[in-house]
Amino acid sequence: MSYAIEAVNLTHYYSKGTIQQVAAIENINLQINKGELVGIIGHTGSGKSTLISHFNGLLKPDSGKILVDGVDIHKDKETLRQSRFKVGLCFQYPEYQLFEETVYKDIAFGPKNMKLSESEIKERVFRAAAFVGVKPEHMEKSPFDLSGGEKRRVAIAGVMSMEPEVLIFDEPAAGLDPRGRKALINLIKEYRKQTGSTVIIVSHSMEDIAEMADKVIVMNKSSVAMQGTVDEVYSRGDELRSMGLNVPEITEIFAKLRAKGIDVPANVYTVEQGAEILRNLMGKGAAK
Ligand SMILES: Nc1ncnc2c1ncn2[C@@H]1O[C@H](COP(=O)(O)OP(=O)(O)O)[C@@H](O)[C@H]1O
Ligand SMILES: [Mg+2]
Repeated sequence: MSYAIEAVNLTHYYSKGTIQQVAAIENINLQINKGELVGIIGHTGSGKSTLISHFNGLLKPDSGKILVDGVDIHKDKETLRQSRFKVGLCFQYPEYQLFEETVYKDIAFGPKNMKLSESEIKERVFRAAAFVGVKPEHMEKSPFDLSGGEKRRVAIAGVMSMEPEVLIFDEPAAGLDPRGRKALINLIKEYRKQTGSTVIIVSHSMEDIAEMADKVIVMNKSSVAMQGTVDEVYSRGDELRSMGLNVPEITEIFAKLRAKGIDVPANVYTVEQGAEILRNLMGKGAAK
């Protein structure tokens, strides 16, 4: 079986051939399985956005290849066009990309480009809108009359309505308050559960990734520094810190508890996990 996404020796330069030339990503090799939820973490400038922009052909590699479902997306024009629909990319602050007169038209933009029938487009638009919680009465409004949070949901629905096999989010929770973050994380988890599609999330929040991801890819200085399960990656705290990444606060708290001789696990990465462990611990204490 082919991978959802495979990168083979992928390299991309900005300002190639000038003195400002930077290798934004260099010799990247990775495979993403179908149906996986993959988190990509790394400090600012490590190459995350450049990497994912190759996954749907928005950027062209200077060397190496990108395969979607086993096919080189730069094979020919039509393959490249199709890859834009197969791999949906939701940019950071996607609400800034809204431009149509109505919410409906914005969400319908992708499916229209796919040349689907009017009835199919309508069905997809309403399905995606309902999923993200955009109210039907907002459909004929201008997206610019909505709140920031609503705009972001419209933008996300605009990618979901293409019903891509792979959906990529670049920093989906950027700029949201804790409640908004939580709601968005739950939305993405639910989307993945309902559709079974492959989901890739770029985030600098180690905790958000721990809460969602089956697999984690760590980018550092234009290269893949680590790949593995949340446990495999997050247990390498010292290396992560040396790359400017911090393990979640809750992990630090549990490390301190362990140092005090309290019998708690070392692999606690989300507040929910931590709360559960403490509840059990306190329950036991009370029973004695
Ligand atoms: N449009 C661009 N022109 C020139 N350099 C860029 C451009 N976009 C990104 N870079 C550079 O490429 C490197 C990787 O950037 P990026 O992929 O945006 O990283 P990240 O998403 O991890 O913050 C950085 O050194 C950044 O300054
Ligand atoms: Mg980025």
